[in-house]
Amino acid sequence: MIALVVGSGGREHALALALSKDPAVSQVHVAPGNPGTDSFATNHPVDQNDGAAVAALATELGANLVVVGPEAPLVAGVADAVREAGIACFGPSKQAAQLEGSKAFAKQVMADAGVPTAASRVCTTQAEIEAALDEFGATYVVKDDGLAAGKGVVVTDDRAEALAHALQCERVVIEEFLDGPEVSLFAICDGTTSRPMQPAQDFKRVADDDQGPNTGGMGAYTPLPWAPDDIVEQVDELVIKPTLAEMERRGTPFTGLLYAGLAMTSRGIRVVEFNARFGDPETQALLARLDTPLGQLLYAAATGTLAETDALQWGSGAAVVVVMAADGYPGTPAKGGRIVLAPDTESAHTIHAGTARDADGNLVASGGRVLGVVGTGASLAEARETAYAQVAATDFESGFNRTDIGAKAAANQITYTAPEN
Ligand code: AMP
Ligand code: GLY
Repeated sequence: MIALVVGSGGREHALALALSKDPAVSQVHVAPGNPGTDSFATNHPVDQNDGAAVAALATELGANLVVVGPEAPLVAGVADAVREAGIACFGPSKQAAQLEGSKAFAKQVMADAGVPTAASRVCTTQAEIEAALDEFGATYVVKDDGLAAGKGVVVTDDRAEALAHALQCERVVIEEFLDGPEVSLFAICDGTTSRPMQPAQDFKRVADDDQGPNTGGMGAYTPLPWAPDDIVEQVDELVIKPTLAEMERRGTPFTGLLYAGLAMTSRGIRVVEFNARFGDPETQALLARLDTPLGQLLYAAATGTLAETDALQWGSGAAVVVVMAADGYPGTPAKGGRIVLAPDTESAHTIHAGTARDADGNLVASGGRVLGVVGTGASLAEARETAYAQVAATDFESGFNRTDIGAKAAANQITYTAPEN
């Protein structure tokens, strides 16, 4: 099988790496890719949002499978262009990607499918906004309706700040605050059938102890020692299956990765958001533990044959990814900072998320989130130690990282008590 991954971030590096380890995959190509994927796959300088260009490249390569990584090309219809060219594609259609592209659309699908989520109001005027803020009260949750790379959401006790953010958005979703730990649960879907992955936890705030502004994610770990044993089955029954059925009923079946961002509240599991693609950085940790060959799995999803595949196989132990970001992120990140990577080991490897080569071929920072340092171990504590030792061995002076990824879970400081039914 010849596989083409579309995108250039950490998620795409991790996907390409896992695809390259599938014995059924003979070649891995990435468009456009990054200096990390360049070391084991073939990069192609193609605009990831240009469906015609991606489809032409896939045809030229004789690709059997195209995996579209980021949300922007999905929302732009790149998966549709690839499928129209007769090539199997893992990634939802433009219409199905609206589950991520529009928070208002996602809320409507959840309502129609009976999926538990926060109560919400969609507002376009100041009067509507103020009424919704006062209806739900503090803590205020204000979400820009469009794509915002995880940065369009303000959660605050300050009504003036909530109002100011809402007034900046063309259309805004205001919703009830959900308490409780957050979980990311990803399901591989073929339109009808789902293969949910193990849960992961992402760290959205920029600084230790969940301080500072939201980011795209500063680290993750999997699995979750504190989560209920049947969390995967529960989320599949409560969230994934009804959502797939509703999307199919609407004539826009969802083929690709359905990302359920969940809050484990005192009243039960609630969906915080849907994304239509693998989460970053959670995917970097998840794929470090997935034993099922990824190419065959995504091909089955892309061709509607997931029901014929076995349950997902996982390695034992845990994985932790620590994001090294450029100073200034999530504001304007410092560009061009020199990086000298620590060599990969059996239990640690580095994923490139925002790197480039300068004129002399040196590795430099070129984005906000620059590296994802992945460590595995027999326990979460061990995986943390491995990941942080690799971070310490990485020379990236103009970067920073959180020091507490997975720390509370490893110290048994996260508790979740499921409500009695
Ligand atoms: P979203 O882009 O919808 O995932 O929101 C980004 C982050 O804001 C989430 O990961 C949560 O940490 C927080 N958030 C979003 N919605 C809520 C909510 N209803 N209650 C509490 N926190 C929320
Ligand atoms: N890890 C958060 C995201 O991918 O949106």
